[in-house]
Amino acid sequence: MARLLIIDDDHAFRDTLAETLESLGHEAVQAASGKQGLREMGQARFAAVFLDHRMPEMDGLQTLAAMHERVPRLPPVIVLTAHASGSNTIEAMRLGAFDHLAKPIGREAVIEVLGRALLPEQAGATSAAADAQDEAADPGELIGLSDAMREVHKRIGMAAASDVPVLILGETGTGKEMVARALHRHSRRAAQPFVAINCAAIPKELLESELFGHVRGAFTGAVGDRPGCFRAADRGVLLLDEIGDMALGVQAKILRALQEGEVTPLGSNRPVKVDVRVIAATHRDLAVAVRDGSFREDLMYRLDVLPIRVPPLRERLADIIPLAEHFLRLAAAPERPKALSATAAQALLRQPWPGNVRELRNLMERCHALARHRVIGAGDIEAPRAEAGRASFASTSAATSAVQGSAAAAAAAFAGGDASPVPLTEDWLGLDLPAATERLERALIEHTLVQTQGNRAEAARRLGIHRQLLYRKLAQYAIG
Ligand SMILES: Nc1ncnc2c1ncn2[C@@H]1O[C@H](COP(=O)(O)OP(=O)(O)OP(=O)(O)O)[C@@H](O)[C@H]1O
Ligand SMILES: [Mg+2]
Repeated sequence: MARLLIIDDDHAFRDTLAETLESLGHEAVQAASGKQGLREMGQARFAAVFLDHRMPEMDGLQTLAAMHERVPRLPPVIVLTAHASGSNTIEAMRLGAFDHLAKPIGREAVIEVLGRALLPEQAGATSAAADAQDEAADPGELIGLSDAMREVHKRIGMAAASDVPVLILGETGTGKEMVARALHRHSRRAAQPFVAINCAAIPKELLESELFGHVRGAFTGAVGDRPGCFRAADRGVLLLDEIGDMALGVQAKILRALQEGEVTPLGSNRPVKVDVRVIAATHRDLAVAVRDGSFREDLMYRLDVLPIRVPPLRERLADIIPLAEHFLRLAAAPERPKALSATAAQALLRQPWPGNVRELRNLMERCHALARHRVIGAGDIEAPRAEAGRASFASTSAATSAVQGSAAAAAAAFAGGDASPVPLTEDWLGLDLPAATERLERALIEHTLVQTQGNRAEAARRLGIHRQLLYRKLAQYAIG
């Protein structure tokens, strides 16, 4: 049994629907206006809401928009209307309605829609996003439950229990620095400093002074004493990032610091004791660097006591969606995050991710900022890549969103709604007719699939085309 809310100004309709719902074993609460409905939602949790479209004062869509703002875990909202049109359907779905049904709705339709709305896994992206929002996003949390990441977690745990040097290996953007920070947080040095230095980003002449410090007058410009990273990290952890790019001369000094537990600031002849745990990270293969003479073998062995290999994203497909949702949550916080549609999730899984987790994070931040809908579609994922090379687009994601926005407007215009026709912006005017038609078709199809949560039969119905034709278009445009 579920508690359901009916918001409709038509008394007779409310009663009939409530009777149907009660006969199905549910509890039905009635509200005669949008305002009253919002009040009810503030007082109790409902498993689903039936919301009338045409109401005096605050109409259904305004009520739905207000719900999005005020109700923290919005249940599926089914918008009902006696005057279904392409434009109000699109608008309702754009505002995150679970479904949009035309009145009168028979008992069968009520059973069907509730069957979908009340299934937890089909409660739709809206509630998935709300669930995600409930857990506060922690930017330091190392996300990933794939086998490969579980192995990384285990290694971090082992390393945290000891105090030996750690070597973190992995391609660019895989999360090496995050692993180092997690290791620090879990180690007995957690309350002491964590200092990171990027050895590749600092010119060789400066690197020594950055690492070991200097005394006043050690070189031109050394106007005061400087402690350097080793001393700044005393009793804590020092991350030597991109150690594979470090000059040989500096490597010798690092080796000494590790062996002796002391550093000598530039311009001084008095070594200073330091108690530092060194974590080194690199995207290079150090064994190869040793062979070609650019890395000291003795230092490699000294560092390589407990290696942690962070796998590239393509080797841990199971982590892609959780990571993507995590980044959407971070980007939206403290607001409700946008949700990924099933087709967007599939698109993410198909990417090669040469830039690994960082690339995924950047893409999700762009989707958060630019996607016009609450639910991110495959077009939002794929278009930035496909169109990246086209100079005529100022911002690739913006272009995609613009297409989706125009698609909605166009659909409304086709349906005889009151929205304006396709805005002929510059990026549309640059296209020839076949290209523009293709773009519109593609955007409309993707948009509709997002709204029907991948249900192709329903998408075909809403698009007003035969299912076979939709399948042909999907193949033609490589959608889904
Ligand atoms: N497992 C993860 N969970 C959550 N966020 C992650 C994870 N891995 C990486 N990130 C995020 O991805 C981005 C890149 O991570 P990080 O800087 O640690 O990578 P890196 O391997 O050190 O990259 P580079 O080789 O460029 O130095 C950061 O924004 C980080 O927060
Ligand atoms: Mg790094």
